[in-house]
Amino acid sequence: MKPLIIANWKCNPKNLIEAKKLFNKVKKLNAVICPPFIYISLFKSANLGAQNCHYEQSGAYTGEISPKMLKDLGLKYVIIGHSERRIHFKETDEMINKKLKAALKAGLKPILCIGEKKGENAKKIISSQLKKDLKGISKKDLRKIIIAYEPVWAIGTGDFCKTEKAKKALGFIKQKINTRILYGGSVNSKISKSYIKVGFNGLLVGGASLDAKEFIKIVKNA
Ligand code: PGA
Repeated sequence: MKPLIIANWKCNPKNLIEAKKLFNKVKKLNAVICPPFIYISLFKSANLGAQNCHYEQSGAYTGEISPKMLKDLGLKYVIIGHSERRIHFKETDEMINKKLKAALKAGLKPILCIGEKKGENAKKIISSQLKKDLKGISKKDLRKIIIAYEPVWAIGTGDFCKTEKAKKALGFIKQKINTRILYGGSVNSKISKSYIKVGFNGLLVGGASLDAKEFIKIVKNA
């Protein structure tokens, strides 16, 4: 299977002109682009994803976007449980579990982000997040979930996780779930291929996905 490369634009680029420019440069790549919600319907691509979704399909939830709405727009993927959502927006494992179930029900492929903070025990956090986030999800549905191992300390810091260490986490996750597993955390074009070489099935790319040249290199090298 070809490595799956996902661009997580986060809350970027800061205006529509820049967003359109970037999208036009990367839209033909064999990669999934996850722009901010507000830009999604302006873009047309077979491989679009969202960065978050609500756990209900509709209702009185001011400001929320449901998985069904994303599916209706033609999206395939949705990132769930990114550490920035866990930290800044206080998303709990229980909420993430509900979001995963709602995304699966709507027919989306969820990308579940897991990973330890600095000083935390990676195995302990991975075990706990997987156990709580995947609670009650059927074996068949588990195979539709993509896991992104993203050590929180490696995200946006330039301090990427060394491949030997990432490979250990990969082995540990594989013992728990049989699905595609990606690496994320300060990926750039110089190191991207090394994660594929040690067995990751793809990459979740934040900062480097905002630089078209750099992202094109990452996708082509994979
Ligand atoms: P980064 O972000 O590549 O900028 O570290 C990755 C992510 O948060 O998904």
